[in-house]
Amino acid sequence: EKVILAYSGGLDTSVIIPWLKENYDYDVIAVAVNVGQTEDFKAIEEKAYLTGASKFYLVDKVHEFVEEYIFPTLKAGAIYENKYLLGTSMARPVIGKALVEVAHIEGAKYIAHGATGKGNDQVRFELAIKALDPSLKIIAPWRIWDIKSREEEIEYLEKNGITLPFHKKSPYSRDENLFHVSHEGFDLECPSKEPNYENVLQWVKTLEVANEKSEYINIEFVKGVPVAINGEKMSGVEIIKQLNKIGGNHGIGVLDMVENRLVGMKSRGVYETPGGTILFFAHEELERLCLDKDTYQEKIKLSHDFSKLVYNGQWFTTLRKAITAFVDVTQEFVTGEVKLKLYKGNIILAGTTSPFTLYSEEYSTFEKDSVYNQKDAEGFINLFGLPIKIEALLRKNF
Ligand code: ARG
Ligand code: SIN
Repeated sequence: EKVILAYSGGLDTSVIIPWLKENYDYDVIAVAVNVGQTEDFKAIEEKAYLTGASKFYLVDKVHEFVEEYIFPTLKAGAIYENKYLLGTSMARPVIGKALVEVAHIEGAKYIAHGATGKGNDQVRFELAIKALDPSLKIIAPWRIWDIKSREEEIEYLEKNGITLPFHKKSPYSRDENLFHVSHEGFDLECPSKEPNYENVLQWVKTLEVANEKSEYINIEFVKGVPVAINGEKMSGVEIIKQLNKIGGNHGIGVLDMVENRLVGMKSRGVYETPGGTILFFAHEELERLCLDKDTYQEKIKLSHDFSKLVYNGQWFTTLRKAITAFVDVTQEFVTGEVKLKLYKGNIILAGTTSPFTLYSEEYSTFEKDSVYNQKDAEGFINLFGLPIKIEALLRKNF
C-alpha cells in the first residue's frame, strides 16, 4: 500500500514519514505543494528521501492558487470576521486537490497530513479530500500519536537512526504562501501583550523603519481581476509578488487578531498580507464606482457568508460555487483603475476611474442637472415615509 503525505520539509512532517512506516508499513510518497512559499524545494526533496520517503513529488500550484482561489475570494471581498484575509484558508483546498491528484496517479488509498487535531487546517485538508475523492482514507498522526513536543519529535527521529539538520527554528507556528505569512503560538498566545514585531515580521517593515517617502501606485482591474501595476501588464502571480514588495516597504498589511476557530476555541495570530491588503482595498474602491446600490449592498452580505465558507474549509461546495457565480455576474463592469498613495502603513485613495462608472458628476452635482427634479422628492418622501406617519398618527400617546 501507498500513502500520500502532505510534506513541507519541516520537523513535524519529517517525523511523520518514519512513523507511518513503523505503524502502517506503507510506502510513503511525500508531496510538496508549491503555493508560493519561499522554500528550497531541492533541500526538501533530499530531506524526504533521508527520512525514508519512497518517492517525492513537487506539485506547482502557484498560478492555480492565484487564479482559482485568491482572485475569486478577492472578487467576493471575503474577509473573515472583518479582519483576516484568509491567506492560509484559501491555500488548503488547493493543496488538498494536489494530494488527491497524486493519489490518483499513484493509485494510493491513503492521505496523511501534519495538521494538529486542534486547528482549522485539518478540517480544510480533509473536507477538500472528501469532496474530491470520498474513497480516500485520511491519516492524521497528530490525532493519534503521543509525541507532544519538538524535543520528542527529534528523539523519535534519532531512535529511527535519522539525524537531520533541523536548525533551531523560530518558536512561532508559521504558514507562508504567495499571499501571506501567518504567525501563531509562543508569546503571541497572550493577547494582552503587543507582538514583538521585530521578531515576528518576515515580509513587512515595521513602521519605524518603513520608507520615509510616500509612493503612488496605480492598479488596473478587468472584470474585478487585477491585470496591471503602473501601466505594466503582468500575471496575477507577478502582481501579488510586486505588491507584497511595495506594500512591505511601506509597512502595509500587518494585523494582530483574536479569531474564532472552527473547532471552538479562540486563537491569536499576526498576519502579514501586504499585497492582498492593497488589492482588497483597491478592488472595493472600484466597486463603489461600478456597482449599482442594490448589487453592492447584497454583495456585502454574501461576502460574509463566503468568508465563513473559506475559513471553515467548505471550498468545494455548491454554496461556495453558487456565491462565486453570483459574484462573477457582479464583476462584469468592475473594470478600471485605482490610484493609491502608500505611506507608513496607510493606504490612501488617490483617484478611481472606470469606463463603466455609475458615478456622474453631472448627475450628482449640487449644481443644476438634467435627471433630477427636486419637486419629485416631495412625493417620494411622502410615500417612503407613509408607514412612519401612519404609526405616529395611530399611536398618538407614544
Ligand atoms: N489561523 C489561520 C487560519 O486558520 C492561520 C493558520 C495557520 N496554519 C498553520 N499551520 N500555521 O487560517
Ligand atoms: C494546526 O493546528 O495545525 C495549525 C493551526 C490551525 O490549523 O488552525
